Amino acid sequence: MPGCMIVCDGGNGAGKSTVLKAIEVHLKDLGLDPVMTREPGGTPIGERIRDILLDRGAAEMCDVTELMLFGAARAQHLQQKILPAIGAGKIVVSDRFNSATVSFQHYARGISFDVISQLNEIAIGDFKPNITIILDLDPAIGLDRVASRGSELDRLEKEKIDFLEKARHGYLEQAKLDPGHFVVIDASQSLDVVVQEAIAIVDRTLKNRNN
Ligand code: TMP
Repeated sequence: MPGCMIVCDGGNGAGKSTVLKAIEVHLKDLGLDPVMTREPGGTPIGERIRDILLDRGAAEMCDVTELMLFGAARAQHLQQKILPAIGAGKIVVSDRFNSATVSFQHYARGISFDVISQLNEIAIGDFKPNITIILDLDPAIGLDRVASRGSELDRLEKEKIDFLEKARHGYLEQAKLDPGHFVVIDASQSLDVVVQEAIAIVDRTLKNRNN
């Protein structure tokens, strides 16, 4: 059976963690042995890069440094973890991937699409996840949810709401431009419904992989 990659991405506080947990349980119930992973992170080197990227104290980080660190973590992730797992016929499920770079570093930060594409090309070549599930939510609601967890906001969550709104728009644009590889779920619905919709997308992706 061929391996495949499913990404869950979208705004902070949109329910990503709950959806990812539900996908993991669902895949295990199907007798599969999914590789659950995340970006930035997923490997020991990637997790160290993540610490730098999300450090609230690193406010001086310039945009190109940020972009290249996300790219460096992704290159390591693909080589060390994703490709070997897919090669072994596994289902890789990632919390964010290159869709986040396009949304946050291009649409929100304003780095040109050409530069983003060059970096993605260096990091992952022509590799594409089979499907990217976008959890779409008004960032004001997402930030309220993050704040209600009581955890401190990281460097990117501390960005102005306008930045997060541009990133949201970026996800919706990507989905519009590539409907074969993106599906948007309205994350303002109850979490049960969001989870059900995500599981249906996972099932459809698994079915397509066998065709
Ligand atoms: P999270 O995955 O724990 O929500 O945090 C990761 C943060 O990094 C989140 O604010 C989105 C941001 N991010 C980017 O700006 N670009 C990227 O390429 C990735 C993977 C994440």
